[in-house]
Amino acid sequence: MYNFSEDIRNVIKEISEFKDKVEGKRVLITGGAGFIGSWICDVLHELKADVFCLDNLLTGSKENIKHLLNKKRFKFIKADVCKYSTSQKFDFIIHAASIASPLIYQRHPIETLDANLIGTRNMLELARKSDATFLFTSTSEVYGNAEVIPTPENYYGYVNSFGPRCMYDEGKRAAEAYCYSYFQTYKLPIRIARIFNTYGPRLDVSNTGYGRVVVKFITQALKNEPLTIYGDGTQTRSFCYITDTVSGLLKLLLKKNIDGNVVNIGNDEEVKIIDLAHIILKITNSKSQIVFQPALKDDPLRRRPDLTKAKKLIGYSPKISLEDGLRKTIEWWKEKLKLL
Ligand SMILES: NC(=O)c1ccc[n+]([C@@H]2O[C@H](COP(=O)([O-])OP(=O)(O)OC[C@H]3O[C@@H](n4cnc5c(N)ncnc54)[C@H](O)[C@@H]3O)[C@@H](O)[C@H]2O)c1
Repeated sequence: MYNFSEDIRNVIKEISEFKDKVEGKRVLITGGAGFIGSWICDVLHELKADVFCLDNLLTGSKENIKHLLNKKRFKFIKADVCKYSTSQKFDFIIHAASIASPLIYQRHPIETLDANLIGTRNMLELARKSDATFLFTSTSEVYGNAEVIPTPENYYGYVNSFGPRCMYDEGKRAAEAYCYSYFQTYKLPIRIARIFNTYGPRLDVSNTGYGRVVVKFITQALKNEPLTIYGDGTQTRSFCYITDTVSGLLKLLLKKNIDGNVVNIGNDEEVKIIDLAHIILKITNSKSQIVFQPALKDDPLRRRPDLTKAKKLIGYSPKISLEDGLRKTIEWWKEKLKLL
């Protein structure tokens, strides 16, 4: 059985040095009903912060936060991050609202650009009025089809600004430029996390549209349906279990004297997509076959973060191996699909 409370306790243990930094503080989390955002809401609520979760429920779901909805220190705000306006002030703002799945952002390209451009500007203004520390959830996609692997933060990127992934990749790059400019112009305390592929419980069909490979493979394997691979499966990714990503994000938010920094957050264990398929088939004991489809345009060939800066600056290193993280995620999916 998957144990959610144990995972939350593990995050809290990992960030124990920052535990008292959030008690009684007002934290706004945009995209808080999504996969990563809802985990952050859970951890911060457990640490006795006043949690304000803003989401338009485009890819997120109230299901992810339903256990928090009647709590005194939790407030759900259904709003578009581009239009949200308030006279309230916050101590911390985590801006995570954005479509993140390729299948869905290609269906909603303008909304994806807006959440990262207009939404980021709007939240930076709110942070400025509030005097809040601001964390932006950027992505490894700002590196595009990187030529330097493992990829450090000072790699500028190899990105197509006019192609099927541009609305996400360039949206995030422009949002980073907004953060940089608010830091330079107003000395706003900003921090940027470049998150690499994250997976785990709550990453679901609603926010992936099956566009994220771990969810796709696990659900296909559990149903004994063919696992579909785009290309020959030799492209690599580095998958990070959700508790490691959330620990990294909160360390980056809460550490003192690191304003204006961009930091990779992820796991540097690199795996070929074909090997990922085999690991999932083994753990699920599935009878599924593997089938190949044509490669996707602009699909990065390799992904692996250089975590040197994350380790040095915020003492971050991921703790959960790919196999352990997949086992937890598969248990969660079995319960969800009622296969237990
Ligand atoms: N999961 C990953 O592997 C990964 C990797 C890199 C970066 N990120 C970034 O982390 C953040 C969270 O991603 P996630 O995986 O939790 O995705 P998700 O889709 O589960 O969560 C995003 C949330 O943002 C909300 N949202 C979208 N547009 C909005 C808008 N205009 N106004 C208000 N809410 C809006 C959605 O409803 C959803 O709840 C995103 O910014 C994403 O780009 C995620």
